[in-house]
Amino acid sequence: MATPVMDKAEAVAKSQASPYITVTFRIRRFNPEVSDAAVWEDFQIEIDPKERVLDGLHKIKWDVDGTLTFRRSCAHGICGSDAMRINGKNRLACKTLIKDINPEKPITVEAIKGLTVLKDLVVDMEPFFQAYRDVMPFLVTKGNEPTRERLQSAEDRERFDDTTKCILCAACTSSCPVFWNDGQYFGPAAIVNAHRFIFDSRDEAGEQRLEILNDKDGVWRCRTTFNCTDACPRGIEVTKAIQEVKRALITRRF
Ligand code: FES
Repeated sequence: MATPVMDKAEAVAKSQASPYITVTFRIRRFNPEVSDAAVWEDFQIEIDPKERVLDGLHKIKWDVDGTLTFRRSCAHGICGSDAMRINGKNRLACKTLIKDINPEKPITVEAIKGLTVLKDLVVDMEPFFQAYRDVMPFLVTKGNEPTRERLQSAEDRERFDDTTKCILCAACTSSCPVFWNDGQYFGPAAIVNAHRFIFDSRDEAGEQRLEILNDKDGVWRCRTTFNCTDACPRGIEVTKAIQEVKRALITRRF
């Protein structure tokens, strides 16, 4: 069967067709200087579905309402500053394409859960970073000044490769129902960063970190819901890392 030939005018019209569509962003706004209650506000914008949710937020902030408040820095999935709940799921706005989240319906955007909202999409990250600091996220060696680099076999390096990928965006911790409860739980991100050093053959403070996580608000509060693994934008097997830390606490082998 002959293939229908597109006439020239039709081809030109098609090539000039706008890629833009109208999308509704439904954003949960909160401004403590105006009201104690958060409210949902709709914004309709024209956007190319191949653009990202972060681009949509920029359009709103720059062209419609300059008071919209959110964090972002690198805009390329590296700094971890723009984790938010998009259509009910924790994601990085800079890594989420409009076309992948059904732009025919309003796209809901709200702050991550379990941390105090300061304004709009910005939360107080201090409890999250305190838990991170508490697990000593740095190499510890005792009186072992190296005169050259500390060597490690490829197998030993592989042991904690996955957990080196964390960008501290809090998508995992703020997707955890245990963390939502009271915010006292260390949370997945802190445990992931403890894992990164506990299983590092060059480190000498594994026992100390395990004892820190043996606390009532430590690793045993994990209920293995896998929310953290689902939420991680870096694809880290977060729940598996937590299980490995639990096992190390029981066997004292790491
Ligand atoms: S803005 Fe840096 S990770 Fe998204």
